[in-house]
Amino acid sequence: MFEEDIKKIKRSMLRKINDRDALNYASDNSKETELDLSQIIEYGSRILINGIEYINFSSNDYLGLSGNIHIRKSAKKAIDKFGFGACASRLLSGGTGLHRELEEKVAGFKRTDAALIFNSGYSANVSVIPAIASEGDIIFSDELNHASIIDGCRLSRAKKAVYRHGDVKHLSELIEKEHRNRRIVITDTIFSMDGDIAPLREIYEICLHNNAILYIDDAHGTGVLGGGYGALNHFNIKPEPWIIQMGTFSKALGSLGAFIAAGEDVIQWLINTARGFIYSTALPPCVVAASITALQILQEEPALVKRLWHNREKLFKGLKDMGFNTLNSETPIIPVVVGDTEATMKLSEELKEHQIYAPAIRPPTVRIPRIRFTVTASHTEKDIDELISALTMAKKEIEN
Ligand SMILES: Cc1ncc(COP(=O)(O)O)c(C=O)c1O
Repeated sequence: MFEEDIKKIKRSMLRKINDRDALNYASDNSKETELDLSQIIEYGSRILINGIEYINFSSNDYLGLSGNIHIRKSAKKAIDKFGFGACASRLLSGGTGLHRELEEKVAGFKRTDAALIFNSGYSANVSVIPAIASEGDIIFSDELNHASIIDGCRLSRAKKAVYRHGDVKHLSELIEKEHRNRRIVITDTIFSMDGDIAPLREIYEICLHNNAILYIDDAHGTGVLGGGYGALNHFNIKPEPWIIQMGTFSKALGSLGAFIAAGEDVIQWLINTARGFIYSTALPPCVVAASITALQILQEEPALVKRLWHNREKLFKGLKDMGFNTLNSETPIIPVVVGDTEATMKLSEELKEHQIYAPAIRPPTVRIPRIRFTVTASHTEKDIDELISALTMAKKEIEN
Protein backbone atom coordinates (compact mmCIF):
# COMPACT_ATOMS: atom_id res chain seq x y z
CA MET A 1 0.00 0.00 0.00
CA PHE A 2 2.85 2.37 0.77
CA GLU A 3 5.33 1.10 -1.86
CA GLU A 4 5.10 4.26 -3.94
CA ASP A 5 5.49 6.47 -0.88
CA ILE A 6 8.56 4.51 0.21
CA LYS A 7 10.14 4.85 -3.23
CA LYS A 8 9.94 8.61 -2.84
CA ILE A 9 12.35 8.47 0.09
CA LYS A 10 15.94 8.95 -1.06
CA ARG A 11 17.98 5.75 -0.68
CA SER A 12 20.46 7.39 1.67
CA MET A 13 17.55 8.57 3.82
CA LEU A 14 15.85 5.19 4.15
CA ARG A 15 15.85 4.04 7.75
CA LYS A 16 16.70 0.41 8.50
CA ILE A 17 16.18 -1.65 11.63
CA ASN A 18 19.36 -3.38 12.75
CA ASP A 19 18.14 -6.20 14.94
CA ARG A 20 20.79 -8.10 16.78
CA ASP A 21 21.02 -11.88 16.64
CA ALA A 22 19.04 -13.82 19.20
CA LEU A 23 22.10 -15.99 20.02
CA ASN A 24 20.99 -19.44 21.05
CA TYR A 25 17.53 -18.28 22.02
CA ALA A 26 14.95 -20.31 20.14
CA SER A 27 11.66 -18.52 19.64
CA ASP A 28 9.83 -21.84 19.63
CA ASN A 29 7.16 -21.45 22.28
CA SER A 30 6.46 -25.15 22.49
CA LYS A 31 9.79 -25.89 24.19
CA GLU A 32 11.39 -24.67 27.38
CA THR A 33 14.26 -22.51 26.18
CA GLU A 34 17.30 -22.00 28.32
CA LEU A 35 19.77 -19.28 27.54
CA ASP A 36 23.37 -20.33 27.89
CA LEU A 37 24.61 -17.35 29.86
CA SER A 38 28.25 -18.23 29.25
CA GLN A 39 27.65 -17.39 25.59
CA ILE A 40 26.14 -14.02 26.21
CA ILE A 41 28.77 -11.46 25.39
CA GLU A 42 26.45 -8.68 24.42
CA TYR A 43 25.75 -6.70 27.53
CA GLY A 44 26.81 -3.09 27.29
CA SER A 45 29.74 -2.96 24.97
CA ARG A 46 29.16 -5.78 22.48
CA ILE A 47 26.62 -6.42 19.75
CA LEU A 48 26.20 -9.44 17.51
CA ILE A 49 24.73 -8.85 14.06
CA ASN A 50 24.53 -11.51 11.34
CA GLY A 51 26.96 -13.65 13.30
CA ILE A 52 29.62 -10.92 13.59
CA GLU A 53 30.58 -9.48 16.95
CA TYR A 54 31.14 -5.73 17.05
CA ILE A 55 32.28 -3.38 19.79
CA ASN A 56 29.16 -1.30 20.27
CA PHE A 57 29.63 2.46 20.50
CA SER A 58 25.96 3.32 19.97
CA SER A 59 24.22 2.23 23.17
CA ASN A 60 22.85 4.42 25.94
CA ASP A 61 23.63 1.69 28.48
CA TYR A 62 26.12 4.14 30.03
CA LEU A 63 26.79 2.09 33.16
CA GLY A 64 26.48 -1.33 31.53
CA LEU A 65 23.57 -2.14 33.84
CA SER A 66 21.31 -3.78 31.23
CA GLY A 67 23.05 -7.10 31.81
CA ASN A 68 23.84 -6.74 35.50
CA ILE A 69 23.36 -10.05 37.30
CA HIS A 70 21.44 -8.53 40.24
CA ILE A 71 19.08 -6.69 37.92
CA ARG A 72 18.44 -9.82 35.90
CA LYS A 73 17.76 -11.75 39.08
CA SER A 74 15.29 -9.22 40.46
CA ALA A 75 13.42 -9.10 37.13
CA LYS A 76 13.17 -12.91 37.07
CA LYS A 77 11.94 -12.98 40.67
CA ALA A 78 9.23 -10.45 39.81
CA ILE A 79 8.13 -12.52 36.81
CA ASP A 80 7.78 -15.55 39.05
CA LYS A 81 5.75 -13.59 41.57
CA PHE A 82 3.58 -11.39 39.34
CA GLY A 83 3.68 -13.00 35.88
CA PHE A 84 4.69 -10.83 32.95
CA GLY A 85 2.27 -8.09 31.89
CA ALA A 86 0.57 -5.61 34.23
CA CYS A 87 -2.65 -6.00 32.19
CA ALA A 88 -4.33 -2.77 33.37
CA SER A 89 -3.53 0.86 33.97
CA ARG A 90 -2.32 2.05 37.37
CA LEU A 91 -5.73 3.60 38.02
CA LEU A 92 -7.38 0.22 37.55
CA SER A 93 -5.48 -2.83 38.76
CA GLY A 94 -2.15 -2.70 36.87
CA GLY A 95 0.02 -1.33 39.67
CA THR A 96 1.87 -3.36 42.32
CA GLY A 97 3.76 -2.54 45.49
CA LEU A 98 6.84 -2.49 43.26
CA HIS A 99 5.48 0.49 41.28
CA ARG A 100 4.89 2.38 44.52
CA GLU A 101 8.29 1.39 45.89
CA LEU A 102 10.03 2.63 42.75
CA GLU A 103 8.25 5.97 42.99
CA GLU A 104 9.30 6.37 46.61
CA LYS A 105 12.88 5.45 45.73
CA VAL A 106 12.95 7.94 42.83
CA ALA A 107 11.62 10.71 45.07
CA GLY A 108 14.36 9.92 47.62
CA PHE A 109 17.01 9.77 44.90
CA LYS A 110 15.93 13.10 43.39
CA ARG A 111 15.15 14.70 46.78
CA THR A 112 11.58 15.63 45.80
CA ASP A 113 8.28 15.17 47.66
CA ALA A 114 6.97 12.64 45.18
CA ALA A 115 7.45 10.88 41.86
CA LEU A 116 5.35 9.19 39.19
CA ILE A 117 6.34 6.45 36.73
CA PHE A 118 5.58 6.58 33.01
CA ASN A 119 6.02 3.83 30.43
CA SER A 120 8.76 5.60 28.50
CA GLY A 121 10.51 8.93 28.26
CA TYR A 122 8.57 9.64 25.09
CA SER A 123 5.28 8.93 26.82
CA ALA A 124 6.25 11.10 29.82
CA ASN A 125 7.02 14.15 27.69
CA VAL A 126 3.97 13.88 25.43
CA SER A 127 1.72 13.35 28.45
CA VAL A 128 3.14 15.71 31.03
CA ILE A 129 3.77 18.78 28.90
CA PRO A 130 0.11 19.04 27.74
CA ALA A 131 -0.96 18.40 31.34
CA ILE A 132 0.99 21.37 32.70
CA ALA A 133 0.60 23.79 29.77
CA SER A 134 -2.52 24.78 27.90
CA GLU A 135 -4.14 27.69 26.08
CA GLY A 136 -3.09 30.98 27.62
CA ASP A 137 0.30 29.60 28.71
CA ILE A 138 3.67 29.83 26.99
CA ILE A 139 6.48 27.29 26.68
CA PHE A 140 10.09 28.36 26.05
CA SER A 141 11.89 25.45 24.45
CA ASP A 142 15.54 24.96 23.39
CA GLU A 143 15.74 24.45 19.62
CA LEU A 144 17.60 21.13 20.08
CA ASN A 145 15.18 19.62 22.59
CA HIS A 146 14.25 15.99 22.07
CA ALA A 147 11.47 15.07 19.61
CA SER A 148 9.21 13.97 22.47
CA ILE A 149 9.39 17.47 23.98
CA ILE A 150 8.56 19.01 20.61
CA ASP A 151 5.58 16.66 20.27
CA GLY A 152 4.49 17.36 23.85
CA CYS A 153 4.59 21.10 23.13
CA ARG A 154 2.53 20.59 19.98
CA LEU A 155 -0.08 18.59 21.87
CA SER A 156 -0.45 21.29 24.50
CA ARG A 157 -2.32 24.30 23.24
CA ALA A 158 0.22 26.67 24.74
CA LYS A 159 2.11 29.25 22.69
CA LYS A 160 5.67 28.12 21.88
CA ALA A 161 8.78 30.25 21.85
CA VAL A 162 11.85 28.38 20.65
CA TYR A 163 15.16 29.84 21.82
CA ARG A 164 18.49 29.33 20.10
CA HIS A 165 20.36 26.28 21.38
CA GLY A 166 21.78 26.95 24.86
CA ASP A 167 21.43 30.71 24.30
CA VAL A 168 20.37 32.11 27.67
CA LYS A 169 20.44 35.69 26.39
CA HIS A 170 17.87 34.77 23.75
CA LEU A 171 15.79 32.95 26.37
CA SER A 172 15.87 36.06 28.61
CA GLU A 173 14.81 38.34 25.77
CA LEU A 174 11.89 36.07 24.87
CA ILE A 175 10.70 35.49 28.42
CA GLU A 176 10.82 39.14 29.40
CA LYS A 177 8.39 40.15 26.70
CA GLU A 178 5.83 37.39 27.25
CA HIS A 179 3.39 37.63 30.12
CA ARG A 180 0.93 34.77 30.00
CA ASN A 181 -0.85 32.78 32.70
CA ARG A 182 1.92 30.26 33.11
CA ARG A 183 5.44 30.39 31.70
CA ILE A 184 7.38 27.15 31.39
CA VAL A 185 10.99 26.71 30.31
CA ILE A 186 11.80 23.25 28.96
CA THR A 187 15.27 21.92 28.28
CA ASP A 188 17.14 18.66 27.84
CA THR A 189 19.98 18.52 30.36
CA ILE A 190 22.36 16.56 28.14
CA PHE A 191 21.42 17.01 24.49
CA SER A 192 21.02 13.57 23.06
CA MET A 193 22.65 14.11 19.67
CA ASP A 194 25.30 16.74 20.49
CA GLY A 195 26.33 15.58 23.96
CA ASP A 196 26.58 19.10 25.36
CA ILE A 197 25.06 20.20 28.67
CA ALA A 198 22.36 22.88 29.02
CA PRO A 199 23.49 26.01 30.95
CA LEU A 200 21.15 25.03 33.73
CA ARG A 201 22.42 27.43 36.39
CA GLU A 202 21.60 30.44 34.18
CA ILE A 203 18.29 28.91 33.06
CA TYR A 204 17.41 28.34 36.72
CA GLU A 205 18.13 32.02 37.53
CA ILE A 206 16.00 33.17 34.58
CA CYS A 207 13.08 31.01 35.78
CA LEU A 208 13.51 32.27 39.33
CA HIS A 209 13.43 35.94 38.28
CA ASN A 210 10.53 35.50 35.90
CA ASN A 211 8.38 33.28 38.04
CA ALA A 212 8.53 30.51 35.45
CA ILE A 213 8.30 26.74 35.87
CA LEU A 214 11.47 24.83 34.94
CA TYR A 215 10.93 21.42 33.30
CA ILE A 216 14.10 19.43 32.71
CA ASP A 217 14.46 16.29 30.63
CA ASP A 218 17.28 14.47 32.42
CA ALA A 219 17.04 11.31 30.28
CA HIS A 220 20.78 11.29 29.56
CA GLY A 221 21.81 13.07 32.78
CA THR A 222 20.36 10.48 35.16
CA GLY A 223 23.15 8.06 36.07
CA VAL A 224 25.70 10.23 34.28
CA LEU A 225 25.84 13.79 35.70
CA GLY A 226 26.29 14.88 39.30
CA GLY A 227 27.79 11.58 40.45
CA GLY A 228 24.84 9.82 38.79
CA TYR A 229 22.21 11.83 40.66
CA GLY A 230 21.51 13.98 37.63
CA ALA A 231 21.72 17.51 36.33
CA LEU A 232 20.48 19.40 39.40
CA ASN A 233 23.19 17.78 41.47
CA HIS A 234 25.77 18.56 38.78
CA PHE A 235 24.86 22.26 39.01
CA ASN A 236 24.35 22.19 42.77
CA ILE A 237 20.73 23.32 42.38
CA LYS A 238 18.30 22.38 45.12
CA PRO A 239 15.03 20.81 43.94
CA GLU A 240 12.30 23.45 44.30
CA PRO A 241 8.51 23.15 44.06
CA TRP A 242 8.63 24.96 40.68
CA ILE A 243 11.14 22.53 39.16
CA ILE A 244 9.80 19.41 37.42
CA GLN A 245 12.39 16.72 36.71
CA MET A 246 11.82 14.07 34.09
CA GLY A 247 14.27 11.18 33.80
CA THR A 248 14.37 7.74 32.22
CA PHE A 249 15.16 4.23 33.37
CA SER A 250 15.92 3.30 29.75
CA LYS A 251 19.43 4.67 29.43
CA ALA A 252 22.04 4.62 32.24
CA LEU A 253 19.72 2.48 34.37
CA GLY A 254 19.55 -0.21 31.67
CA SER A 255 15.80 -0.79 32.08
CA LEU A 256 12.66 0.82 30.59
CA GLY A 257 10.28 3.58 31.54
CA ALA A 258 10.52 7.10 32.89
CA PHE A 259 9.70 9.19 35.92
CA ILE A 260 8.60 12.63 36.89
CA ALA A 261 10.06 13.81 40.21
CA ALA A 262 8.37 16.90 41.59
CA GLY A 263 6.26 18.39 44.37
CA GLU A 264 3.26 16.47 45.71
CA ASP A 265 0.78 18.86 44.04
CA VAL A 266 2.39 18.39 40.60
CA ILE A 267 2.30 14.60 40.97
CA GLN A 268 -1.35 14.63 42.11
CA TRP A 269 -2.21 16.85 39.13
CA LEU A 270 -0.47 14.45 36.73
CA ILE A 271 -2.21 11.40 38.20
CA ASN A 272 -5.45 13.17 37.32
CA THR A 273 -4.60 14.73 33.98
CA ALA A 274 -1.58 13.12 32.25
CA ARG A 275 -3.22 11.04 29.55
CA GLY A 276 -0.23 8.73 28.99
CA PHE A 277 -0.46 7.81 32.66
CA ILE A 278 -4.24 7.47 32.89
CA TYR A 279 -4.96 5.70 29.62
CA SER A 280 -2.05 3.29 29.34
CA THR A 281 -1.26 -0.12 30.81
CA ALA A 282 1.24 0.03 33.68
CA LEU A 283 4.81 -1.15 33.17
CA PRO A 284 5.30 -4.90 33.77
CA PRO A 285 6.33 -5.53 37.41
CA CYS A 286 9.56 -7.21 36.28
CA VAL A 287 10.61 -4.01 34.51
CA VAL A 288 9.83 -2.02 37.64
CA ALA A 289 11.80 -4.50 39.78
CA ALA A 290 14.76 -4.11 37.41
CA SER A 291 14.61 -0.32 37.75
CA ILE A 292 14.50 -0.54 41.57
CA THR A 293 17.64 -2.67 41.61
CA ALA A 294 19.37 -0.47 39.02
CA LEU A 295 18.69 2.62 41.13
CA GLN A 296 20.13 0.87 44.17
CA ILE A 297 23.28 -0.21 42.31
CA LEU A 298 23.77 3.31 40.98
CA GLN A 299 23.73 4.68 44.53
CA GLU A 300 25.85 1.93 46.06
CA GLU A 301 28.53 1.74 43.39
CA PRO A 302 29.85 5.23 42.59
CA ALA A 303 32.85 3.56 40.90
CA LEU A 304 30.61 2.82 37.88
CA VAL A 305 29.98 6.50 37.19
CA LYS A 306 33.68 7.27 37.73
CA ARG A 307 34.63 4.58 35.23
CA LEU A 308 32.16 5.95 32.69
CA TRP A 309 33.80 9.38 32.92
CA HIS A 310 37.31 7.90 32.80
CA ASN A 311 36.37 6.14 29.54
CA ARG A 312 34.72 9.27 28.23
CA GLU A 313 37.87 11.34 28.81
CA LYS A 314 40.06 8.71 27.15
CA LEU A 315 37.89 8.51 24.04
CA PHE A 316 37.42 12.27 23.84
CA LYS A 317 41.16 12.88 24.06
CA GLY A 318 41.80 10.24 21.40
CA LEU A 319 39.31 11.85 19.03
CA LYS A 320 40.66 15.35 19.68
CA ASP A 321 44.26 14.19 19.15
CA MET A 322 43.13 12.94 15.75
CA GLY A 323 41.72 16.37 14.95
CA PHE A 324 38.06 15.32 14.77
CA ASN A 325 35.25 17.87 15.06
CA THR A 326 33.25 16.73 18.10
CA LEU A 327 30.90 19.76 18.16
CA ASN A 328 30.50 20.89 21.79
CA SER A 329 30.41 17.46 23.42
CA GLU A 330 31.02 17.48 27.17
CA THR A 331 29.65 14.04 28.02
CA PRO A 332 29.79 10.34 27.04
CA ILE A 333 27.80 11.26 23.91
CA ILE A 334 30.48 12.32 21.42
CA PRO A 335 29.42 13.28 17.89
CA VAL A 336 32.05 13.14 15.16
CA VAL A 337 31.38 15.29 12.11
CA VAL A 338 33.24 14.32 8.96
CA GLY A 339 31.26 15.96 6.16
CA ASP A 340 28.04 15.23 4.31
CA THR A 341 25.68 12.28 4.79
CA GLU A 342 27.54 10.16 2.26
CA ALA A 343 30.95 10.66 3.92
CA THR A 344 29.44 9.98 7.35
CA MET A 345 27.80 6.76 6.17
CA LYS A 346 31.02 5.69 4.50
CA LEU A 347 32.95 6.18 7.73
CA SER A 348 30.35 4.17 9.64
CA GLU A 349 30.60 1.35 7.06
CA GLU A 350 34.42 1.42 7.23
CA LEU A 351 34.25 1.15 11.02
CA LYS A 352 32.02 -1.89 10.66
CA GLU A 353 34.77 -3.51 8.60
CA HIS A 354 36.92 -3.14 11.73
CA GLN A 355 34.23 -4.64 14.00
CA ILE A 356 33.17 -1.28 15.39
CA TYR A 357 29.46 -0.54 15.48
CA ALA A 358 28.60 3.18 15.36
CA PRO A 359 25.77 4.10 12.97
CA ALA A 360 25.54 7.44 11.19
CA ILE A 361 22.87 9.88 12.34
CA ARG A 362 21.50 11.86 9.43
CA PRO A 363 19.03 14.61 8.61
CA PRO A 364 16.16 15.00 9.40
CA THR A 365 17.04 13.58 12.86
CA VAL A 366 19.90 16.11 13.03
CA ARG A 367 20.86 19.06 10.85
CA ILE A 368 24.55 18.11 10.61
CA PRO A 369 25.25 14.45 9.79
CA ARG A 370 27.49 12.78 12.34
CA ILE A 371 28.54 9.54 13.91
CA ARG A 372 27.21 9.64 17.44
CA PHE A 373 29.64 7.68 19.58
CA THR A 374 28.51 6.74 23.05
CA VAL A 375 31.02 5.31 25.46
CA THR A 376 30.04 3.32 28.54
CA ALA A 377 31.51 2.06 31.80
CA SER A 378 31.61 -1.45 30.34
CA HIS A 379 34.03 -0.56 27.54
CA THR A 380 37.61 -1.55 28.28
CA GLU A 381 40.66 0.62 27.60
CA LYS A 382 41.44 -1.83 24.79
CA ASP A 383 37.97 -1.29 23.24
CA ILE A 384 38.65 2.44 23.10
CA ASP A 385 42.16 1.91 21.67
CA GLU A 386 40.60 -0.33 19.02
CA LEU A 387 38.09 2.35 18.09
CA ILE A 388 40.85 4.95 17.75
CA SER A 389 43.00 2.70 15.58
CA ALA A 390 39.96 1.70 13.46
CA LEU A 391 39.16 5.38 13.01
CA THR A 392 42.74 6.10 11.92
CA MET A 393 42.46 3.46 9.21
CA ALA A 394 38.88 4.32 8.24
CA LYS A 395 39.74 8.02 7.98
CA LYS A 396 42.52 7.22 5.51
CA GLU A 397 40.10 5.05 3.52
CA ILE A 398 37.46 7.74 3.18
CA GLU A 399 40.03 10.45 2.36
CA ASN A 400 41.33 8.37 -0.59
C1 LIG B 1 16.38 13.63 25.80
C2 LIG B 1 15.47 12.46 25.63
N1 LIG B 1 14.23 12.52 26.14
C3 LIG B 1 13.37 11.49 26.03
C4 LIG B 1 13.72 10.34 25.39
C5 LIG B 1 12.75 9.21 25.26
O1 LIG B 1 13.02 8.25 26.22
P1 LIG B 1 12.55 6.75 26.01
O2 LIG B 1 13.55 6.12 25.10
O3 LIG B 1 12.55 6.16 27.38
O4 LIG B 1 11.19 6.82 25.40
C6 LIG B 1 15.00 10.21 24.85
C7 LIG B 1 15.41 8.96 24.18
O5 LIG B 1 16.00 8.91 23.16
C8 LIG B 1 15.90 11.31 24.96
O6 LIG B 1 17.11 11.24 24.41
